[in-house]
Amino acid sequence: MTDTKKSQHSQWSSRFAFILAATGSAVGLGNIWKFPYITGENGGGAFVIVYLLCVLLIGIPIMMAETMLGRRSRQNPIETMKTLAKEADADSNWHYLGWLGVIAGFLILSYYSVIAGWASAYVLKAFTGSFFSADAAEIKSLFDSFVASPVQLIFWHSLFMLATMLIVVRGVNSGIERAVRFLMPSLFVLLMLLVAYAMTTGSYDQGIKFLFTPDFSKLTANGVLTAMGHAFFTLSIGMGAIMVYGSYLPKDVSISKTVFLIAGTDTVVALLAGIAIFPIVFASGLEPAAGPGLIFQTLPIAFGNMTGGWLFGILFFVMLVFAALSSSISLIEPAVAWLVENKNMSREQACIWSGSITWLLGFGTIFSFNIWSELKIFDRTIFHLLDYLTANLMLPIGGFCIAVFAGWIMKHQHTEQELDMPDAISYQAWKLLISYVAPAAVFLVFLHVIGVL
Ligand code: PFF
Repeated sequence: MTDTKKSQHSQWSSRFAFILAATGSAVGLGNIWKFPYITGENGGGAFVIVYLLCVLLIGIPIMMAETMLGRRSRQNPIETMKTLAKEADADSNWHYLGWLGVIAGFLILSYYSVIAGWASAYVLKAFTGSFFSADAAEIKSLFDSFVASPVQLIFWHSLFMLATMLIVVRGVNSGIERAVRFLMPSLFVLLMLLVAYAMTTGSYDQGIKFLFTPDFSKLTANGVLTAMGHAFFTLSIGMGAIMVYGSYLPKDVSISKTVFLIAGTDTVVALLAGIAIFPIVFASGLEPAAGPGLIFQTLPIAFGNMTGGWLFGILFFVMLVFAALSSSISLIEPAVAWLVENKNMSREQACIWSGSITWLLGFGTIFSFNIWSELKIFDRTIFHLLDYLTANLMLPIGGFCIAVFAGWIMKHQHTEQELDMPDAISYQAWKLLISYVAPAAVFLVFLHVIGVL
């Protein structure tokens, strides 16, 4: 790593710019599309509690560690791990952690883009009035016939990947900042509106009860793993996305305060999405465990029946696409930063390479909703397998290694200096969580899943 390379590395214009970009990365399909459907599949309240505990005890400490690692080295995740391992006199194999992240990013984006494509298609459906006065059955068949068409899914997936690449080419600092600044507040307002609609359905109490009354008998070992994996997924941690954003962070910013703010916003958005969706699920006689189509089968009912629903429907899906875009760029940025900084590629070349690979990989997910829907590997469709492999395995493993590195390998004075916590007690609390609680929790959940515990 030479100084010239370091000076190529860009920097956020302010703490606020980092907050916007990192919140943009965290808040996305994970909050609005994935959280409700996996909550539905895993029985509700108990799953939500495990997820919240994981965010607090595992996610937030690891998010702080990941940001810190990036900022300390100011390079892409692969080089970061190399440099910091050297600084701590540790094994150089730590840089494989950076690789794990780059690969996880490709795999996640390959399906993320397909689902974001669905959201883009729903902008058009909302615009042409497809939801108008529709009942639950009509909305469901609209969704079913849409995902049955590979051609349509390929079109929307391609469009979304193209948009992602166009933004990433311009560099992460420009563009994202402006988009997220108006996006977050607008998304928030629209979610509140949906919650207000949910209150009129007559099944609001049932929805709230489903979300917040725990029944641990409904939670399986795999449900616990899914809740933990989702804590990683929703905070964008365990794969270097937050590390690479941290590497653009100015030195004088408080990592702990910033991370709490981002994780708090992320959690509120997910809970609001759940509060809006489940009353509609029950009021329409739908299955909470309907799977990945859940929001596409519920929210259009709300838009089709509320006053002003045409406009709100368009706006909502537009916001969802933007929220997905501000996440997708962070999924591809570790790979792009590495290609630019280490392989001497231009940003354009790096984007074309990584974008094309992801685009091609996306076909696996597209076909698993139609022509390959019967094809099962380890009992799962390609989409489910990719999701399981990345969210439930790769991100927790990546997060586990980050925790071990920050808690045990890095020099104590380096972490203390870099985190610059407000007082000694909060530093000690972080140190306890990152060294013991987070790694042990991930380990125990894995043991539980393979049946040892
Ligand atoms: N956090 C994003 C979401 O909830 O939609 C998804 C994501 C982005 C996961 C970036 C991982 C990542 F590195």
